[in-house]
Amino acid sequence: MAYVITERCINCKYTACTQVCPVDCFREGTNSLVIDPDICISCGACEPECPVNAIFEESDVPEKYQEAIALNAELSQKWPEIIEKHDPLPDADKWKDVEDKMQYLEKDQAA
Ligand code: SF4
Ligand code: F3S
Repeated sequence: MAYVITERCINCKYTACTQVCPVDCFREGTNSLVIDPDICISCGACEPECPVNAIFEESDVPEKYQEAIALNAELSQKWPEIIEKHDPLPDADKWKDVEDKMQYLEKDQAA
């Protein structure tokens, strides 16, 4: 089992989660982060750090976000490591309560 970042992160990227991970398993795309499930030790430290509640333990991922489990596994193999917090995306506060953001996911890695 691993923790999973859901679509709630899309267009926000607050990155507070990256500061607490003991095994550096966050990976960064253009407008979202994912967790590498092969490295995550399910310590749970990241979950309360996210201001938009984007992170769930795999068995607790809500039905509407189930797609995120496979996407974290896939995209974590393509995106580079992020180990330090940086500024959120410019419109993060505008996007933080928007639902159904999967359509906006950019699958390329962070520039
Ligand atoms: Fe890292 Fe722990 Fe979060 Fe897994 S659960 S991503 S090991 S902080
Ligand atoms: Fe995304 Fe939340 Fe981390 S918005 S970057 S999962 S702190």
